[in-house]
Amino acid sequence: MRDGPGVTAPRVAVVGVRRVRQGLGEHFARWLVAAGAEVPAFVARTPESADEGRRVLARHGIDARGFTSLDALLAAEPVDALVIASPAETHAVWLRTACAAGLGVLCEKPFVWGGADPAREGAAIVEEFSARRLLLREHCQWPRVLSAFFALHPQAAGRAPSAFEMELAPSGRGRSMIVDSLSHPVSVLQALPGGLGGGISGLSFSTRDPDAAAIDVSFRAREGGLAVVVRLRSVPGQPRPAAMAIDGLRADREVELPSYRMSLRDGARTVRLGDHVPFGDPMGAEVAAFVAALRTRGPAGADPGIVPRLRLLAEIAAAFG
Ligand SMILES: NC(=O)c1ccc[n+]([C@@H]2O[C@H](COP(=O)([O-])OP(=O)(O)OC[C@H]3O[C@@H](n4cnc5c(N)ncnc54)[C@H](OP(=O)(O)O)[C@@H]3O)[C@@H](O)[C@H]2O)c1
Repeated sequence: MRDGPGVTAPRVAVVGVRRVRQGLGEHFARWLVAAGAEVPAFVARTPESADEGRRVLARHGIDARGFTSLDALLAAEPVDALVIASPAETHAVWLRTACAAGLGVLCEKPFVWGGADPAREGAAIVEEFSARRLLLREHCQWPRVLSAFFALHPQAAGRAPSAFEMELAPSGRGRSMIVDSLSHPVSVLQALPGGLGGGISGLSFSTRDPDAAAIDVSFRAREGGLAVVVRLRSVPGQPRPAAMAIDGLRADREVELPSYRMSLRDGARTVRLGDHVPFGDPMGAEVAAFVAALRTRGPAGADPGIVPRLRLLAEIAAAFG
């Protein structure tokens, strides 16, 4: 961490700055810089992709060096923290490497995936970070949209909902849609009064076709009886429609391109001036909170939502088959 007069700039490296499929690494880098962090370096798989990654970051005015190992990166450019923006199946290795190196981590969702028992593996990793009092967050940005939702639908605020729906448009099909998407509704439900603390019951799927382009996932919170439906519709490219409804009050996310300005629109009403509630990119807010936590330098630890979220994701994916 470099100190200037009254300024502390955490130094953060990123694993995976390019978009090969859906990766958001370059956006993590630009939000880190916007939040006052330095991004001096990143990890890439090959020297060639490191060169390409350097060009990608240069487009955002970021001058960062690419390395093909974290050891080499740390020897040349010591950092305080790592953002893991590589595919889910690679997260466990990078999380363990970062923890051994004493780095705080912001890791893309799903926290870990691909091993024999992701929930157990994730819990072990969280324990390692907690034992070392290292900052650990999972990038689930949708709870940051709730303040805009309640600005649109104030009558839904401050009470435990009895019905929650979310529509998302991932790029894959079948099981991969579930693995890709379920962290989002679960993280929102964890942030709402009532939550999912007691686990779920009545899990069902509209189809179990492994190649399905549309799947509805339904379940209930075991405590309180909240009914949840997550509607997944495969969409190969941008824009990706998304919507949330709490107790029947619906908000559609709109994204203005190319500015990427976001707003929520009341899905049930005809659009009029004032029907849109604009909100800042929730990813920027997540990254800013991570940088702010790094700046405090106090005892940190892991986000307590990570393990229950991963357990639920693993339960739902296993039930799909
Ligand atoms: N929160 C959200 O809304 C959101 C949206 C989209 C994606 N995601 C998450 O973002 C993550 C990445 O998405 P993706 O799977 O589609 O990524 P991707 O675009 O296929 O790849 C992204 C980056 O990962 C790097 N990479 C791949 N394998 C690696 C390895 N073994 N070690 C280090 N770096 C590696 C690539 O490196 P090179 O540059 O060397 O090729 C590339 O820069 C996933 O966890 C996904 O769920 C989240």
